[in-house]
Amino acid sequence: MILLTGGLGYIGSHVAVELIKQGYDVVIIDDLSNSEYSVLERLSELTDTEIYFELGDVRDITFLTGVFQRYQIENVIHLAAKKAVGESVHKPLHYYDVNVSGLINLLKVLEDHRVKKFVFSSSCTVYGQPDQLPVTESTPLGDTPSPYGKTKQMCEQILESVAKVAKHQIVSLRYFNPVGAHHSGKIGELPKGVPNNLVPFITQTSAGLRDELKVFGGDYSTPDGTAIRDYIHVVDLARAHVKALMVDLGAHIALNLGTRQGYSVLEVIKAFEEVSGIELNYTIVERRAGDLPEIYGDPSLAYKKLQWKAELGLTDMMRDAWNWQQGLAK
Ligand code: UFG
Repeated sequence: MILLTGGLGYIGSHVAVELIKQGYDVVIIDDLSNSEYSVLERLSELTDTEIYFELGDVRDITFLTGVFQRYQIENVIHLAAKKAVGESVHKPLHYYDVNVSGLINLLKVLEDHRVKKFVFSSSCTVYGQPDQLPVTESTPLGDTPSPYGKTKQMCEQILESVAKVAKHQIVSLRYFNPVGAHHSGKIGELPKGVPNNLVPFITQTSAGLRDELKVFGGDYSTPDGTAIRDYIHVVDLARAHVKALMVDLGAHIALNLGTRQGYSVLEVIKAFEEVSGIELNYTIVERRAGDLPEIYGDPSLAYKKLQWKAELGLTDMMRDAWNWQQGLAK
């Protein structure tokens, strides 16, 4: 049995599908703070499988202990965390509490149980603004100004220390920019309120839910002046989690989950317009505080260790994101 924390969220729901496809039994923990119960029904429909679900918070150690008593858990994939960079500046304690205390709680409970692998959801934000691109896992961790970014760095440091004494192997997966949705259109990203991220903002604007997209910054020193990111299809990302369970990776390893291919905001918009046939209403405005001009990652270590690489391209990401958005309107 795999324990999947945050399993009803955007990434967690896609990980659940890929785990079940590979024959794993899954128990999901989620507190529904940024997800909906209906996702569980959708997951059951999509996989035609019973998925065990426990409503609760990773900061609640009694709850976690109970989950470990009720299920035979062999591996843990820990995704439950707060992830909005801007919000973290206004609610730093909440971010440290959920992300850092939540991790510590879970690791404490693991001390009393025989678990083989612990997979942690990290982020390329740990690199800060790197001097050289693409970033590799040996790129030094940089200054990341947001409390959110700091929580990811702290969590990795905690895991590094724990790995020296823990019986389970630990894998930190550093996500670049996950976008897209499951091709079925049954699961995808469900942003609460106004989306912070580019792709949900694009799809919501095209669906008529937002008036226009603001492109943050047209004066970066990139070929078209807009910022560059390494977008990765969420299904590719999910597959890497399953692979991480299957191979021996030593005490602790961090792996980049990206594509090595950077795209500018304008390139993403163009790809979306081509896929959807809709001309997007956008204007270029001031830069967003805290944004990096450019980041993309070298995923070759993940290939070497996991035999994993991203298979879906930008067109697939846009097609599936748009398909998901259109399904929401029905
Ligand atoms: N952007 C816009 N308009 C928008 C939203 C975003 O132009 O309305 C731009 C951003 O300025 C950036 C790019 O689109 O250049 C991507 O922005 P996202 O908000 O989608 O993603 P970020 O790269 O800012 O952040 C993501 C995750 C974080 C993670 C970070 C690491 O959301 O959790 O990558 O780099 F920390």
